Amino acid sequence: MLNIFKSKKEYKENFDLDMNNIPNHIAIIMDGNGRWAKEQNLPRSMGHKAGVETIRIILKEATRLGVKNLTLYAFSTENWSRPKDEVGTLMKLLVTYLRKELKECHENGVRMNVLGDITKLPQECQKALNEAIETTKNNTKINLSFALNYGGRDEIVRAIKLISSDVKNNIIKEDEINEKLVEEYLYTKDIPDPDLIIRPSGEQRISNFLLWQCAYSEFWYSDINWPDFKEIDLKRAIVDYQNRDRRFGKVK
Ligand code: FPP
Repeated sequence: MLNIFKSKKEYKENFDLDMNNIPNHIAIIMDGNGRWAKEQNLPRSMGHKAGVETIRIILKEATRLGVKNLTLYAFSTENWSRPKDEVGTLMKLLVTYLRKELKECHENGVRMNVLGDITKLPQECQKALNEAIETTKNNTKINLSFALNYGGRDEIVRAIKLISSDVKNNIIKEDEINEKLVEEYLYTKDIPDPDLIIRPSGEQRISNFLLWQCAYSEFWYSDINWPDFKEIDLKRAIVDYQNRDRRFGKVK
């Protein structure tokens, strides 16, 4: 057995991976930064900092495996009610990440995207995000979306408002409203629904993430906190996904 694998199980999981059935879109709820920090007697900010390191690792591995869309839940509409200094830390980490990683991401074909209302984020974040989106807009290797100031309910309410305004202004007719049209009004209009949603840290809930889009997603949970999540965990999630029977409500 090659010694890069820690165990027989890890070795098997690597070779069980079917490179012809890689999920097109993986979405991740990056959870457990605070608990990770607590376990090591560190401030929560250090947990978030370590979480950024995991973003680098997982983006690289997802790209290598041929995942075409990776969406990361980075800041929810509810996260504003965290202590002010924690919110400040997260915003600073975002700017630092974008400034540091933009060049490498661009060189590696990463197209950066955002889901959520970023006009509520500090100016510095908006500037860094807009620059990243503009610089990488023609890249096609992988689409990396950060859900920022994002909430699934908020996204649906926003879509309803936009649709009613378009009906009022005779841009669309009421009887043209169907699922396909609604999708056009969501932040995710340019990306497919997630095939696989991963939540580390032992929690098993959706927390207002991609509520419309997760209708037929497969869910995978792990007890590992996000800062400890590694390439092998992503592969484990994918192998598990590949062994599921996706029926989309139909009978085979
Ligand atoms: C959840 O862990 C994590 C978040 C609310 C933030 C996730 C953000 C990052 C990993 C870094 C952001 C930076 C970029 C580049 C987008 P938690 O704090 O709720 O953990 P806990 O449940 O253990 O307390």
